[in-house]
Amino acid sequence: MTWSAGMYLQFAAERNRPVHDLLARVMTNPVSRAIDLGSGPGNSTEILLAAFPDAHVTGMDSSPEMIAAARDRLPDIDFTLDDIATWVAPGWFDLILANAAIQWVPSHATLLPRLMAKLRPGGSLAVQVPDNLTEATHRLMRQVAEEGPWSDRLLPAFAPWENRLDADRYYRILMPVAQSVDLWRTTYFHRLPSPAGIVEWFRSSTLRGFFALLTADEIVAFEARYQELIEAAYPPLPDGSVLLPFPRLFFVARR
Ligand SMILES: C[S@@+](CC[C@H](N)C(=O)[O-])C[C@H]1O[C@@H](n2cnc3c(N)ncnc32)[C@H](O)[C@@H]1O
Repeated sequence: MTWSAGMYLQFAAERNRPVHDLLARVMTNPVSRAIDLGSGPGNSTEILLAAFPDAHVTGMDSSPEMIAAARDRLPDIDFTLDDIATWVAPGWFDLILANAAIQWVPSHATLLPRLMAKLRPGGSLAVQVPDNLTEATHRLMRQVAEEGPWSDRLLPAFAPWENRLDADRYYRILMPVAQSVDLWRTTYFHRLPSPAGIVEWFRSSTLRGFFALLTADEIVAFEARYQELIEAAYPPLPDGSVLLPFPRLFFVARR
């Protein structure tokens, strides 16, 4: 899937809040070496750097556009083009951060122990994954994909949704390889100017992968139908704005 750094950062404050909440629960001290996996345009890396100013911080991402944006934003930080699924790096880390990134990576049951093994004893793996697949935003995306002439092309593109596991499963995977696991779920309520704002939010993330498989006319038709369903599912506040409930799952596992 391709990413647009500019579009992604349109909701920067909302997307950054979970990074602050996640890092606030990291008890590893000191942190001398840290990495941001799936660092995107460098927004989460910037917060990581501010939280641990004495640490040597690096970032990695599989999108060349995101890496270029991150390098522009933080020219002193080393950002590398790499894939979390196959990531190997020399040495150990005190902190591995993956905010809103591993939902794109398969096989969490093997991925997470592998990441834990890259930590120094006492080091932390700090992860946040959107937990919104049963929200109306995502149910309706699937509905529009199923009901349109594009279904044969779009339905296989839902496969990455299977990557995400539930809290119980994450806990069981982490328990044998961690001295402690702090796991929680938060629902943020983002106020957006209109139902179109909800469509805009996902146009810069989840919908991009689907739109890459559609023609320009089909994208217009998909969005029109999706927006119609979103308007019905998210009743406006008196001023026309809407609340987008956005549940996210967090864990900090300490080796
Ligand atoms: C939703 S953005 C999160 C960006 C940033 N971490 C943040 O907190 O806002 C997801 C990022 O994960 C990256 N990504 C997706 N799959 C990846 C993979 N297999 N390996 C590395 N990065 C990946 C994408 O390119 C994108 O930049």
